Amino acid sequence: MKRIVILISGRGSNMEAIVEACAAQAWPARISAVISNRADAAGLDYAAARGIATSAVEHRAYPDRERFDAALAEAIDQHAPDLVVLAGFMRILTAGFVQRYAGRLLNIHPSLLPAFTGLHTHRRAIEAGCKLAGATVHYVTAELDHGPIVAQAAVPVLPDDTEQTLAARVLASEHRLYPMAVRWAVEGALRIEANGVVRQRDGAAQLLL
Ligand code: GAR
Repeated sequence: MKRIVILISGRGSNMEAIVEACAAQAWPARISAVISNRADAAGLDYAAARGIATSAVEHRAYPDRERFDAALAEAIDQHAPDLVVLAGFMRILTAGFVQRYAGRLLNIHPSLLPAFTGLHTHRRAIEAGCKLAGATVHYVTAELDHGPIVAQAAVPVLPDDTEQTLAARVLASEHRLYPMAVRWAVEGALRIEANGVVRQRDGAAQLLL
């Protein structure tokens, strides 16, 4: 059984989708813990109700990123995870932290990377006149939102979209995309090639919704 630790900062709807898929599809894995940088993250209540260990490592309690990341790593390592999954975890991680979990740290970002790294992705996609938007699951590297791409989901940008309506459409795609990609990781179906390109065993890595 592979062990997964999920990091959240708030609502945790992607975490929920992963927890539910893990149980419903009988993955060879269990969610060992859900950890948040905010004690009031709504997703912690859901995880606790599902019998999953939860904890909070409040970033505000630490004077700098290095010390916060060290405390976070200590909390994570108590569960000896094979995979660490960032699901709406809204902290920039230090290079040391990223290195510690190299090759077993996944993130989901709400854009079709490499377009729109950083924040306000939906507003920026609408302002740029994009006709497609989406989400990307990638391995985390030290450069923000730049790691090897595992899988992407694309959705249309509709003429009347607001930031909110587009965000909702992308989020629904995330809930299908992220469990699929995490499952591949726990099943050993992913390989990062020397050039940084990720290959999935069956060659499937896009969802068009
Ligand atoms: C998701 O849309 C996720 O892609 C995004 O935050 C949201 C979290 O929602 N992540 C980032 O922007 C990371 N830079 P959730 O808490 O309901 O899963």
